[in-house]
Amino acid sequence: MYVETYERVWMWLAGGLIAVFLGVIVATAANGAIAPPSHLETVDPAALSTHPEFGSPTVRTNADGSVVVTVVASMFSFTPDPIEVPADTPITFRLTSSDVIHGFEVVGTNANAMAIPGYVSQFTVTFKTSGDYVIACNEYCGVMHHMMVGKLTVKPVSR
Ligand code: CUA
Repeated sequence: MYVETYERVWMWLAGGLIAVFLGVIVATAANGAIAPPSHLETVDPAALSTHPEFGSPTVRTNADGSVVVTVVASMFSFTPDPIEVPADTPITFRLTSSDVIHGFEVVGTNANAMAIPGYVSQFTVTFKTSGDYVIACNEYCGVMHHMMVGKLTVKPVSR
């Protein structure tokens, strides 16, 4: 097959660019230990009620001031609800589900992850703006999916 030199050059350039872009993704993921929020830690979805952490999902403040929010999603609500956290503070969410896959999206922010039975999804966000936020389930989980909402209240902190 005959390919024009000019076309051949552009094909190699395009191929090279794809290789560079993929390389950047792999390198930054490896260097920053970046992983998807879930699938690093497992939990038995059938034994959540007796689990030391997920048995009583709540907001915990560590000695260093960081905040961990444990959330269990189940048809068709989030526990705890409402969730109250301080503004301008790193908040680590740890989510799981007791039944099917749910979504956990703090509407209007970049806090958004899946709650997957059997796995812990973890991510950390800092809310700059205090106020009330809607937590929406954004994965279809059953007939009442559209009613599955929670509330997040971000309280201003005085420092
Ligand atoms: Cu839970 Cu949709």
